[in-house]
Amino acid sequence: MIVLGIESSCDETAAALVEDGRRILSSVVASQVSIHREYGGVVPELASREHVDNICFVVDEALREAQVGWDQLDAIAVTQGPGLVGALLVGLAYAKALAYSLGLPFLGVNHLEGHVYSVFMDYPEAETPALSLVVSGGHTNLYFLRGIGEYELLAKTRDDAAGEALDKLSKFLGLGYPGGPVIEKLAKLGDSRKVRFTMPRIKDGSLDFSFSGIKTAALRFVKENNIERIAEEGKGVITSLPPTVLDLVASYQQAIIDQLINRLEKALSKTEARSIQVSGGVSCNRALREQIASYFESKGIPVYAPQQALTTDNAAMIAAAGYLRLKTGAADPW
Ligand code: KG4
Ligand code: ZN
Repeated sequence: MIVLGIESSCDETAAALVEDGRRILSSVVASQVSIHREYGGVVPELASREHVDNICFVVDEALREAQVGWDQLDAIAVTQGPGLVGALLVGLAYAKALAYSLGLPFLGVNHLEGHVYSVFMDYPEAETPALSLVVSGGHTNLYFLRGIGEYELLAKTRDDAAGEALDKLSKFLGLGYPGGPVIEKLAKLGDSRKVRFTMPRIKDGSLDFSFSGIKTAALRFVKENNIERIAEEGKGVITSLPPTVLDLVASYQQAIIDQLINRLEKALSKTEARSIQVSGGVSCNRALREQIASYFESKGIPVYAPQQALTTDNAAMIAAAGYLRLKTGAADPW
């Protein structure tokens, strides 16, 4: 079965054709990063307008790349939320119109469910029950995954998402948008234990995350060390940044990784999870992937993260999640 997936929840217009929930025939992503960069974050109205301009071309390109005709599609899956309302509406309206005109089943997919299933596209054998951590620009959610399609939210962030924390520090330092990839590059040049951040403790025994404390501490460090001025001078010339800035971003990234590992470890002791799965844009980060894998694999718990192209927003994961629903005979009303 071939499912056309469409994703337009934030600043990526994406379409993909996926066969039987796993085989990616094509995956096209039109990024709007260059449009939002000058604002240091996504501007919702601009995102919606870009989706309107791009959606037809992106879907056409996905069909062309896969060499699949409209008549070969079995269903249409689209992100129905969470996300920016105007942006979501573009994908939804397009997908509904297409499904209606082609007489195909229409499936509205939860964006986070797409991230969770991206792991199974590469690792269908990944053991369940599992701990599934979705770590992105909008969310930091930890689920207990009893089996495919059966999950329970164990913890979420009480303030910023991990990716948002990276994006905000990057914006503050004038290093560019999105912050995650820039900070990953710079962190390799700094000392990740030089600047000390405290691990946030949540008093009621919950496993929730919190990243606003380290963000505030980093901003204080920036002011105390007059970094703002130095970083502005070094804007765009990454290698010329002073060691203090490099140590700060390396330590900041490390503090985020340490907190994720801390919560995963606590969750592991409270559940019967047989594997750990990590997905979402921040899981593209190599240091994060390697550290989570080495920490838990040394304890005999396998760790799975999707191929890097499936970590940031894409439509292949939406098609895969839609396929799983389609198999159960589900379809959504208009
Ligand atoms: O999943 P995603 O594409 O969109 C949301 O659903 O939010 O995640 C985007 C987030 C951004 O905050 C971005 O800075 C972060 O993922 N990100 C990274 C990396 N690549 C993207 N964070 C750390 N390291 C990376 N290499
Ligand atoms: Zn996402």
